[in-house]
Amino acid sequence: MAGLQPTVTVKKRFPAPSPDTTAWRIFHDAASEVWVDHFDGRWLVQTREPDFPGFVTQLAEGVADSIYWRPRDKAAATAPVLVAGESVAERFAVRENGASFWIDFRAGYSCGIFLDQRLNRRWVGEIARPGQRVLNTFAYTGGFSVMAALAGATTTTVDLSGTYLDWTWENFTLNGLDPAAHHGVKGDAFNWLRTFARQGRTFHGIVLDPPTFSRKAKGTFRSERDYADLAALAAALIEPGGWILCCANTHGLTSERFERDVLRGIRSRRRRVLSREDPGMPPEFRGDEYLKSLRLVVE
Ligand SMILES: C[S@@+](CC[C@H](N)C(=O)[O-])C[C@H]1O[C@@H](n2cnc3c(N)ncnc32)[C@H](O)[C@@H]1O
Repeated sequence: MAGLQPTVTVKKRFPAPSPDTTAWRIFHDAASEVWVDHFDGRWLVQTREPDFPGFVTQLAEGVADSIYWRPRDKAAATAPVLVAGESVAERFAVRENGASFWIDFRAGYSCGIFLDQRLNRRWVGEIARPGQRVLNTFAYTGGFSVMAALAGATTTTVDLSGTYLDWTWENFTLNGLDPAAHHGVKGDAFNWLRTFARQGRTFHGIVLDPPTFSRKAKGTFRSERDYADLAALAAALIEPGGWILCCANTHGLTSERFERDVLRGIRSRRRRVLSREDPGMPPEFRGDEYLKSLRLVVE
């Protein structure tokens, strides 16, 4: 009948973002809350619902050798289960904009890389310079450190977890970088930012990418409540003309409010922001913009 539109929804895969990238979010549907990440032919499906979405098997035809699934309501530490294809019993490497990262589906919390940070990792690789000092806090497996180190910077990587620091060094080695030429610190990032200030240490670039909620040595940190304090700690360490990448993975925080908090923190240390840029999320994440980012250059 004239005027009627087809009601069939065509599920579309996102293409690889660049020829030298083998890991990206290949599908997401915010309405049905299904997210699919492609890791060099292995798929990791996450769902809000407790049932596996059957259409994903069709979507994977000819593209994925393995499909793993993890409902998001499972405890964060649950490893995904194999739904179809070959089992992935070992860690494997993926490529992103020319860098390599180890992925391990057996790891609980996340499998080694947060794909939503691809544009920021690329930016860090572009802005970091040989001979500069770059501090990566809340580093997880050191993705930002790898990018800065590949650009020739000397990096300092801070995370609470020794396991993730070890993973960071394995990522360094995978990229032909010598871990011995870089620094790693296991411990509370808030404490370390204060310690670096006491020691008079400064950095040309700083990455702040805390979890939404964290326990500190004293009290707790919540992105929505405490980001200005965190930005102030970084402002005390940044070299004149240096950059700070601020990120918050929080649905509940608007970009405007996030920017206000960050700027308040920087200015509380009497530092002036020369430029700021909100890059938005990678295209395949649009429509579900939980990750807030701000790239600052400080006078
Ligand atoms: C959201 S992830 C960071 C992701 C990382 N920036 C990336 O792009 O891959 C949070 C990380 O912060 C670490 N973490 C949580 N609380 C911390 C704290 N108080 N001090 C240092 N690291 C912390 C966790 O161990 C975890 O690796």
